[in-house]
Amino acid sequence: MQYLIRLVTPPGGIILDPFNGSGSTGKAAMWENKERGVDYSYIGIDLDEKYLEISQARIEYAIDADKIEEEIYQVNKDLIRPGQVLSMF
Ligand SMILES: C[S@@+](CC[C@H](N)C(=O)[O-])C[C@H]1O[C@@H](n2cnc3c(N)ncnc32)[C@H](O)[C@@H]1O
Repeated sequence: MQYLIRLVTPPGGIILDPFNGSGSTGKAAMWENKERGVDYSYIGIDLDEKYLEISQARIEYAIDADKIEEEIYQVNKDLIRPGQVLSMF
């Protein structure tokens, strides 16, 4: 997907996916920004609101995985005490 975006979008361009789905196009665009500093913008459209929520989370993760990992760590740190044994049952 990143290769296809590179092929048709100049640096600084706007990428539009009118069938956004789970947001793979947007995610690839954000990875291009991170890896090549090309400053793409992304617009995703979908009929299904649930897909938009999911894709937003995936795209935000692609933009700043480190920050989100830190937030998850902070939440887990408060919920799980060191040495605590967790059971799934
Ligand atoms: C196969 S997914 C697209 C995958 C996406 N391009 C990607 O990169 O992950 C198709 C999506 O199109 C949406 N869709 C179908 N018809 C639509 C319409 N008329 N307008 C907007 N979205 C539509 C569906 O809800 C579905 O989420």
